[in-house]
Amino acid sequence: MLTPAGIARLSVYTAPFYLDMNDFAHARGEDADKFHVGLGQSRMSVLPPDEDIVTLAANAAAPILADMDINRITAVLFATESGIDQSKSAGAFVHGLLGLPSRCRVIELKHACYGGTAALQMAVNMVRVNPQEQILVIAADVARYELGSPGEATQGCGAVAMLVSSQPDLLIIEPGSGYYTEDVMDFWRPNYRDTALVDGKYSTMVYLTALKNAWEHLSQSRQLTYQDFARFCYHLPFTKMAIKAHSRLMKLCGLEADETQLDAVMGHSLAYNRIVGNSYSASLYVGLASLLETDPADLTNQRIGLFSYGSGCVGEFFTALVSPDYRQHLYTGRHQQLLEGRKRLSFTEYLAFYHAFGDVERSGNLELPLHTNGRYRLGAIRAHKRLYVDQQGTSAS
Ligand code: HMG
Repeated sequence: MLTPAGIARLSVYTAPFYLDMNDFAHARGEDADKFHVGLGQSRMSVLPPDEDIVTLAANAAAPILADMDINRITAVLFATESGIDQSKSAGAFVHGLLGLPSRCRVIELKHACYGGTAALQMAVNMVRVNPQEQILVIAADVARYELGSPGEATQGCGAVAMLVSSQPDLLIIEPGSGYYTEDVMDFWRPNYRDTALVDGKYSTMVYLTALKNAWEHLSQSRQLTYQDFARFCYHLPFTKMAIKAHSRLMKLCGLEADETQLDAVMGHSLAYNRIVGNSYSASLYVGLASLLETDPADLTNQRIGLFSYGSGCVGEFFTALVSPDYRQHLYTGRHQQLLEGRKRLSFTEYLAFYHAFGDVERSGNLELPLHTNGRYRLGAIRAHKRLYVDQQGTSAS
């Protein structure tokens, strides 16, 4: 019998600034319904120059650590595709900023948006082998496309921190996934670019192919049917993608996809992402937080199906059981305050943030004025070293 392992805490953080899709549509000369209806997005979080994946991650992890003995953390598994260094792990910066114990392992993982799921599954298996492990799984990303490209409307940023342990107060991750890999060029970012390249329409088709194959693998290997699930969460590059995905899944299962059914089984998972945008590796788990925190139904002991997709590509369909009393362990108030408290940027301010990094790559020196109200911020880059600041203390890493 395997030790139950899963998610004990789930904390979300995003930048304290957003661009409204009405302002975006106006500036780009598009019909706003293309974004509201066509993509299912109403806002996108915009990263200020003094935040990056390290500060997003540290700000997401801080509330979890505030409630526990941090010396019990045995590993930090950090998933990202917005890496800030080719060698030093972003997790090492986070480890320093959060004052984690030195008896701890840290690693950065990457496979596009799938990295967060790879980290979660790795952590769950580590806990199954050694129930003493208390692992911080972090997924943090900044979705950045070229200005004026079709992808620009699907930007965003965010991080999730998950405490994975043998006391899964929120969700038990069940053993046995369905998965699918294919070598494709649907979305990629060569090392010399700071914006992603994408074959947009093709990427949505590959997403659905991966979903079909991962579902068939899962349902055949575990004899699961659609009716075994109460809710579904999908990787969310934009919320309409998940609606297309779930309609496809229902069709595969021989069911008619009507709006009421779609809304009931996955509608609540979309609420946060609709106003955050794509956060790549974090996106599925921002959707999971949205489901657990906004669905009025009591999901205790119910099974959730989760589909993770990472371009390139890997798809994994896995399942989780909701723990009793899960609501007592959520950060609902904190998340809703964070999302509602963000500042609306004008289109000009959005462009100024977008261009803020200038020629830092070449000079390696940049002093960053204070923009964020997040606890952790990037203060400067000096001699190619990033200097982070804890605004509630004096520590810089
Ligand atoms: P586009 O060409 O600007 O948009 O690109 P479109 O013309 O296809 O319109 C989008 C939808 O809006 C269409 O609906 C239109 O009909 C509708 P659909 O046919 O798809 O159902 N529309 C309207 N609806 C109402 N009123 C209107 C109106 N006008 C149009 N007036 C695209 C869209 C998603 C391709 C683009 O934004 C893009 O390239 N995004 C980035 C790629 C992406 O997000 N791909 C998703 C799958 S891959 C993935 O999820 C992985 C990823 O997260 C990365 C990773 O793994 O690391 C991206």
